[in-house]
Amino acid sequence: MRIDILTLFPEVALAPLDESIMKRARDAGVVEVEAHQLRDWATDKHRKTDDYLCGGGQGMLLKPEPIFAAVKDLRGPETRVLLTTPQGRPFRQATARRLAGEAHLLVICGHYEGVDHRVVEELVDEEISIGDYVLTNGALAAAVLCDAIIRLLPGALGDERSSQDESFTDPRLLEAPAYTKPAEFQGLEVPPVLLSGHHGEIEKWKREKALERTRQNRPDLLDS
Ligand code: ADE
Repeated sequence: MRIDILTLFPEVALAPLDESIMKRARDAGVVEVEAHQLRDWATDKHRKTDDYLCGGGQGMLLKPEPIFAAVKDLRGPETRVLLTTPQGRPFRQATARRLAGEAHLLVICGHYEGVDHRVVEELVDEEISIGDYVLTNGALAAAVLCDAIIRLLPGALGDERSSQDESFTDPRLLEAPAYTKPAEFQGLEVPPVLLSGHHGEIEKWKREKALERTRQNRPDLLDS
């Protein structure tokens, strides 16, 4: 898979992808990621990428011309063009799974108050929001998308099973709580069943606790 990110802040998008599992996946050739400076496609002498809103309103908007020019250069026959925006469809584990099956993603990062809507109408296949809050910098959202997608690619995680049995594997269920050694710490004990070696009992405990945790932290999932 290849991912191109178009942003005013390439370093912000790439920094989290230069560490740990993401770095190893990139080094191993599981994915090729490149972040591009949107300003490189601005043609005026100030390399301007934003402007005031038509009809008035607070803030600035990304202009269409540099984005149209960049997408023309970066898009290929198999490209899916995404835009990070709080007005997008919610990004979920199922979205990550679907996008992990694409050959090429081009992620346009919104900034300021967003992008000129002609970009959305003409260029974007999918508008994506990473949550119901507003960031100043869409490159952060792009990094989140990339991490969630790349870890699902074959060869990205050391143990393939680690992405097969986790929160949202069943979209309505969070993962059960987990413990490591020591078995007792400051009087706090690891639940004995986890040390029992009884596989069936452990699975039963995990199912119960997963449900309990979901009920506690995300009752909305169970209602859906
Ligand atoms: N840009 C600003 N806020 C965002 C959000 N919640 N999701 C995606 N992109 C964004």
